[in-house]
Amino acid sequence: MAKYAVVTMPGDGIGNQVLPEALRVLKAVEFDAEYVHADIGWECWCKEGNALPSRTVELLARHKLGLFGAITSKPKKEAEAELRPELRGKGYSYFSPIVTMRQKFSLDTCIRPCISFPGNPLNFIRKRTAGGFEEPLVNVVVFRQNTEGLYAGVEWTNPPEPVRAALATHAKFKPFTATTGADLAISVRIITRRAARKICQAAFEWAKKYGYRSVTICEKPNVLRETSGMMEDEAKAVAREYPGIALWSTNIDAQTMWLTKNPEDYGVVVASNLFGDVISDAFAGLIGGLGFAASGNIGDEVAVFEPTHGSAPKYAELDPPIVNPIAMFLSAVMLLEHLGEIDKARRIREAIAAVVKEGRVRTYDMMRISGGAKAISLGAASTVEMTDAVLEKLVQQAYSHDTAKGRRELAEVGSSR
Ligand code: NAI
Ligand code: MG
Repeated sequence: MAKYAVVTMPGDGIGNQVLPEALRVLKAVEFDAEYVHADIGWECWCKEGNALPSRTVELLARHKLGLFGAITSKPKKEAEAELRPELRGKGYSYFSPIVTMRQKFSLDTCIRPCISFPGNPLNFIRKRTAGGFEEPLVNVVVFRQNTEGLYAGVEWTNPPEPVRAALATHAKFKPFTATTGADLAISVRIITRRAARKICQAAFEWAKKYGYRSVTICEKPNVLRETSGMMEDEAKAVAREYPGIALWSTNIDAQTMWLTKNPEDYGVVVASNLFGDVISDAFAGLIGGLGFAASGNIGDEVAVFEPTHGSAPKYAELDPPIVNPIAMFLSAVMLLEHLGEIDKARRIREAIAAVVKEGRVRTYDMMRISGGAKAISLGAASTVEMTDAVLEKLVQQAYSHDTAKGRRELAEVGSSR
């Protein structure tokens, strides 16, 4: 029996292209796991009226470890139109399966590392005042509260009367009382002290474990006095338990403006759900964008790892696939780190770093060309070629003393798809 069981959820579009490539990489470092496929995504919604079927929930509850590709989601009206005719008008509503998964399993801690690989042509560069450019390497890890805040899902268009009545008790609601019926939409931002404390603690713990000198709480307490105020209060309380680590406080708007000024100054960044989503994308843009952005959704029992990107439908049908699988590989690396398989994680990270630095094999995004069918003829590596390059580095690492054995090993890994 394998040491671990991992629920694999490729989902939609390019999720189906990148996830199998990550499994090839995991196999190459002899990760001792059995993989259990689970359905998720748009097709499940259209056919079953549920993008996260209960059989998938059960598998996750049983195995507690997931690797997820990406899903497609569409606005309310389109979702209803694509639902199987027999299911229409029967009260099915579309919910994002990944948001639902985070809430169902209390995957309350989202970790999004944004760490540059030297030599990546997509890395942020900065103009020197004296002329020329410099490339400050970014090493930021964003901690995003993953289950509350504006994504808690408590929202209405045309809120029911008791909700209106409750809101009317707040003086600031007065200007809105005249807006009736379906002309009023409300999303509630909910923060609990417990969750605020927990995400701040996770951020400081990470800073301590990996030697970051600062934690930045990125909110907007001057305006969102209650919710951002509570986040900031908890960050301050937690900071007192970590005397060696500085607590910085920034506002989300200013932070998005300034992060291109001195990104190398930031270490761990912590934020509530929406702000964490925003700021992690902003930092990811400095280290290569969606092809490099991985994340972990961690709860007390269950953990699911996924690239930040979506299903990129416009590239999903291309043959050969052209998208960058590195974000998916880095998600697998996070899974290994979560399990304490540090050496395997390090080997994959080093192999990716070597491929990026060498610059011989680059997917279209790394070449800054547009990603149509022509990308390959313009010299871009395919998704599979990028995986092959990483596998080759892994074999070179392991058998630098015995290349013949290395080549045999590579042939084996390559043929196992
Ligand atoms: P997206 O992330 O799917 O793609 C945006 C663009 O980024 C792509 O067109 C492509 O140019 C580039 N890109 C994405 N992944 C890439 C990769 N691995 N390598 C190279 N280039 C890559 O976001 P979009 O187009 O806004 O959404 C498409 C669908 O995905 C929507 O239905 C959306 O709801 C869903 N989505 C799902 C997410 C998830 O599963 N966690 C996250 C974001 C969007
Ligand atoms: Mg996002």
